[in-house]
Amino acid sequence: MQIYKVGGAVRDRLLGKPVTDIDWVVVGATAEEMLANGFRPVGADFPVFLHPKSGEEYALARTERKSGRGYGGFTFHASPEVTLEEDLIRRDLTINAMAEDDQQNLTDPYHGQRDLEARLLRHVSPAFAEDPLRVLRVARFAARYAALGFTVAPETLGLMRELSESGELEALTAERSWKEISRALMEDQPQVFIEVLRECGALKVLMPEVDALFGVPQPKAHHPEIDTGVHTLSVLEQSALHKQPLTVRWACLLHDLGKGLTPEEEWPRHIAHEHTGLKLIKTVNERFKAPKDCQELALLVGQYHTHGHRALELKPSTLLELLQSLDVYRRPQRFEEFISACEMDARGRKGLELRSYPQADYLRGAATAARSVAVQPLLEKGFKGPELGEAIKRERLKALKAYKEEAST
Ligand code: CTP
Repeated sequence: MQIYKVGGAVRDRLLGKPVTDIDWVVVGATAEEMLANGFRPVGADFPVFLHPKSGEEYALARTERKSGRGYGGFTFHASPEVTLEEDLIRRDLTINAMAEDDQQNLTDPYHGQRDLEARLLRHVSPAFAEDPLRVLRVARFAARYAALGFTVAPETLGLMRELSESGELEALTAERSWKEISRALMEDQPQVFIEVLRECGALKVLMPEVDALFGVPQPKAHHPEIDTGVHTLSVLEQSALHKQPLTVRWACLLHDLGKGLTPEEEWPRHIAHEHTGLKLIKTVNERFKAPKDCQELALLVGQYHTHGHRALELKPSTLLELLQSLDVYRRPQRFEEFISACEMDARGRKGLELRSYPQADYLRGAATAARSVAVQPLLEKGFKGPELGEAIKRERLKALKAYKEEAST
């Protein structure tokens, strides 16, 4: 049997990037031989094995044919006769379809190296269309390698467009989609992921709520970039520049969905978009079964981001409501993430990227003031149950009034 390094490990070595996962392909072997050599099978009828020591994936060279709609609708053909070239041709991109032996000799029948040099994400063959998840993968690679100058080849974009129009994307499971989306959002230029999806028509299918933001104007005074979609991309870009966690990036992407629902006659104003957007945020959260922390933060940021921006003008009672809704007493980290998302929203505007955001420290100070209210003295005064809750609130309100007064002097 011959063993080759394939896929991302070869691509990233040639790009001079760190290699984390190594995938191997085995040519000329049977499953029985693999088992006899101590490899552990990954699934019952999937020709992939784990190395007994390294735990890395070793796949028998295989051909694939699509036999039905969606994922799972595949038939595999793995046998010792399948050649390396046959295995590589079923892969997604030419830059992912190179193999290397233990002497670093490259097998590159589909010119991956040429495309690496040309900075092109190009599909290998029409077999690309057999897995619609590849539309998201290409957009993710575009986000990852944008800084290196990579773009999607026009013919690949065309194929992605056909796939998006065919209804195939709807067959993707929430889990597979979320894995791609969450990885893409954590790339250096997550806005490119959304741009590429939009360009090939996939955004309209996957997240019509985000797609609808393009072409929707906002008031120039607060939003020199005017377009809500452009603004959303800038907010996402800021979130990556500031190394924000996934929760914040997800909230950034969804924070203004309500603006897509504003009747045209009300443009460029978007009264109550924080409220109207909540239903849409919930729908998108659920569509991809986003993790709970992402879901929660997106909803809170959607509902309260304008409160964040107006923090210094808020009445103490409104400030208290905000802090209560954010449960700053028990969820300090989420509160920080909320502040970060608001700050990214404020900076994700044309020409305002470097502005300061005094609201952040003001909100932190307010939370400290509200948290400083001690419960013990109230218990000692005999407050219990709902009355105790009311008494704590009253004391917090007092503390916030004092805080606001002090801050304004
Ligand atoms: N592959 C594919 N189509 C898919 C998934 C994977 O063709 N839908 C192939 C590609 O050749 C890819 C390899 O399987 O390079 C390994 O896939 P994976 O580990 O998911 O991705 P990597 O290319 O290694 O990239 P990453 O750095 O994102 O892990």
